[in-house]
Amino acid sequence: MNPTDRLQRPLHDLRISVTDRCNFRCRYCMPAEEFGADHAFLPREEILTFEEIVRLTRVASRLGVTKARLTGGEPLLRRGLDDLIAMIATVPGIEDIALTTNGTLLAHHAEALALAGLSRVTVSLDALNPDTFGRMNGVGAKVERVLSGITAARTFDLGVKINCVIQKGVNEQEILPLARWAATEQLSLRFIEFMDVGETNHWDARQVVPADEILTHLRTEFRLEPLQPTQAGETARRWRLDNGPTEIGIIASVSQPFCRACNRLRLSADGRIYTCLFASQGHDLRPLLRGAADDNLLEATLRGLWSARDDRYSELRGQTHAPKAEMSYLGG
Ligand code: GTP
Ligand code: 5AD
Ligand code: SF4
Ligand code: SF4
Repeated sequence: MNPTDRLQRPLHDLRISVTDRCNFRCRYCMPAEEFGADHAFLPREEILTFEEIVRLTRVASRLGVTKARLTGGEPLLRRGLDDLIAMIATVPGIEDIALTTNGTLLAHHAEALALAGLSRVTVSLDALNPDTFGRMNGVGAKVERVLSGITAARTFDLGVKINCVIQKGVNEQEILPLARWAATEQLSLRFIEFMDVGETNHWDARQVVPADEILTHLRTEFRLEPLQPTQAGETARRWRLDNGPTEIGIIASVSQPFCRACNRLRLSADGRIYTCLFASQGHDLRPLLRGAADDNLLEATLRGLWSARDDRYSELRGQTHAPKAEMSYLGG
């Protein structure tokens, strides 16, 4: 029997962080002053090998996982990611393999990723305006590079979704241009409320643009028709834009938490299991993976962790104060 947690939630998604490094320094995630040249990233020997990741994915699939999402940091910085995808694609029960990326290396890798069995990519794009984009990514990266990554992904038939984090006073003015662009390109676009992940991003509730405000902006120009959820535990509420093929979503983890159906388990690059994006501690599986444990013991351990889970951070926001792990480390 597949386990449910203490709030009767099944396990469905495994989010696998393959590296804690990134070539961006988005202020809301890895501010440059906190992640400078002297920052201690995970040493190579602590990072799970592809074989270890695949073994855990296989065990997780025995507990109900059907979707694997590769995250980071920036997952395309991990050498041979297409090999890992090809290996995950052979795991029985895994029906959907997705990748969350900042898109800068996508043009180069899209073909190999598609051939390996990747189903879709989610590309972060916070602004079309070059100055705003350069400021937000913290390294002056060019928006054209991300756009060519998106084009390449589409050329090789990968599904594409766009993620855009909205911060008050930073990129609210990008909401309408991005929606117009998504409509022209017929791309699915999701706006994300700025979240209080980790401890270094100087989160301030006054910088959150709540979903209702994002919708008000959109309704000045577009007709929005609500769409029914297609999958249990979806992060985004979705609307059809102007009766066309384009979908707009809003991920309102702050103003409208969605913990009640949360079915996601996270694996950090160094083999710790986290049962919530806002957890302060993970459960280290490396001693089991690198010791004598067989798959049955790994399965029993994961089952135990999921069965004991009662996380609902977003619903309890403000009532808990334990220091949280960084998103670049445990994966978005
Ligand atoms: P789909 O598989 O396409 O539904 O994607 P997804 O929404 O699961 O993943 P994605 O990596 O695109 O994440 C979108 C945004 O939602 C990011 O900002 C994530 O950090 C956030 N997010 C994803 N899962 C959770 C979650 O369980 N809790 C909260 N609070 N935010 C989440
Ligand atoms: N708040 C909301 N979304 C965030 N992301 C990273 N940090 C934050 C934050 N503080 C987004 C990234 C990426 C996704 C995985 O999470 O932009 O699209
Ligand atoms: Fe890198 Fe993504 Fe974090 Fe930006 S949000 S710093 S691209 S991991
Ligand atoms: Fe799931 Fe934690 Fe996010 Fe709630 S806050 S949806 S429990 S990851």
